[in-house]
Amino acid sequence: MGVFGVEDAVATIKIDPARALGRVDRRLFGNFIEHLGRCIYGGVFDEGSALADEHGFRRDVLEAARGLRVPILRWPGGNFVSGYHWTDGIGPREQRPRRLELAWRAEESNRFGTDEFIAYCRALGAEPYICVNMGSGTLDEAQAWVEYCNGTGNTYWANLRRANGHPEPYRVRYWGLGNEMYGAWQIGSSSAEDYVKRARQFAAMMQWTDPSIELVGCGQWGWTEWDRIVIDGLAPLVRYHSVHLYTGSGGYRRNVYMPHQADRALRLCEALIERARYEQKIQHPIGIAFDEWNVWYRTRTPQLRQAGLEERYDLSDALAVATFLNVFIRHCRSVQIANMAQLVNVIAPIFTRPDGLFLQTIYHPLRLYAEHVQTVALEAFVDAPTDELGVEDEQAVTADDRPWRVADLGPFSLLDVTASVDTDGRELCLAVVNRDPHAAIPTRIELAGAELVGGARLYEVNGADPGTRNSFEQPEAVQVQERALESGGTCIELTFAPHSVTVVRGQLG
Ligand code: AHR
Repeated sequence: MGVFGVEDAVATIKIDPARALGRVDRRLFGNFIEHLGRCIYGGVFDEGSALADEHGFRRDVLEAARGLRVPILRWPGGNFVSGYHWTDGIGPREQRPRRLELAWRAEESNRFGTDEFIAYCRALGAEPYICVNMGSGTLDEAQAWVEYCNGTGNTYWANLRRANGHPEPYRVRYWGLGNEMYGAWQIGSSSAEDYVKRARQFAAMMQWTDPSIELVGCGQWGWTEWDRIVIDGLAPLVRYHSVHLYTGSGGYRRNVYMPHQADRALRLCEALIERARYEQKIQHPIGIAFDEWNVWYRTRTPQLRQAGLEERYDLSDALAVATFLNVFIRHCRSVQIANMAQLVNVIAPIFTRPDGLFLQTIYHPLRLYAEHVQTVALEAFVDAPTDELGVEDEQAVTADDRPWRVADLGPFSLLDVTASVDTDGRELCLAVVNRDPHAAIPTRIELAGAELVGGARLYEVNGADPGTRNSFEQPEAVQVQERALESGGTCIELTFAPHSVTVVRGQLG
């Protein structure tokens, strides 16, 4: 990263602190834990491990997770929830039933349940977000779950929580109405129309139990007929509509550009929501809960699914994750919750074995963004070289069951940029992904009506090449390099290294 003459710049970024896009919801940095593979057992929760605390929570995992400043944690699934009877997971652990688990063809000990989940959220400083079982589950079960968590009266389920040692209500605010109910892989999947009928019944009973809860309708990818029917049918009852998107495969370029599919998802979902609110004269806001997102393609085959989706991430995936986050920040007026899937071991930034962990490449952008992105997103004008995907790139897809085209979303700017400031307009965070795999991009950054004070910090996620992975043997092959930026002013020159994510955090004068 050297100073260069302005004439050498091949890209320009222009930022005006007065041009706000909207407020960035902290809940965009949410995460998700599912009873799947080694996410809970052996990840979050490891009874008897020397690394576990008195609750059985892995201390090293908790510390790494705290670094991600997770504001909201979704649980217990995912596909798992559609066969989960939550009452199996409360009361004395030795008496909890061990069940056949059909979503992932596994066995569930039920030693981690609702009380453990809430304790974990409290330890992490995250708000709990529970998805209910609309597959094999009943209305009564969902109602009882809300009552167990939030009930304050002298009633059976609230009293059972008290008897289990928790006198105060848990005040779980976020409740999901089922998971991916459209999919043939989902226990109890159905048509959109049938889902809407049942979800209305669930919503009513859950809200009558606690009117303060906020419900999330079960969406698909944001743009489908399923989404349209569910949004139209549930708009009067829900506060959020969910979207899930997993990207990747087809080589480096497709991998790093595919998160722009989230941009399509958000644009079209925003339109469906606006239409429903307008047509139905709905007063309350309906946000988007992007409650599963990540790069996931290497472990999508049926055999590897059963092996617990232990995706090993490389540097290109870290660039994709940063791009996803940039997309969310640009759409901050509609996407209010996002949950990376998942926190540990299962398609995850944290990877454990019995005696320790390492941080995968994708941990680093997630951590940097959660720490440095500010409250007000700004427009960022970017003039940089572009790249386009062709038909051949779309055909290079392997092990991928998503029929998505992404080439039409291009041409893609090689620099993907977001900027944000705090509410006083004094702290600036600039996040830049250079997707060029070979070339550094010398860039002129112009600030309108503001100057960057000298001494800003610069954090760069990078590694030897886009295929570099972290491992127990080489835990820091991809890591964060931090340095000070001596120069400030209204025009800053920075060279963004090939295949890198850079976060600049500084003060505006
Ligand atoms: O996160 C892994 C799985 O992906 C979840 O269980 C499911 O909701 C999605 O299909």
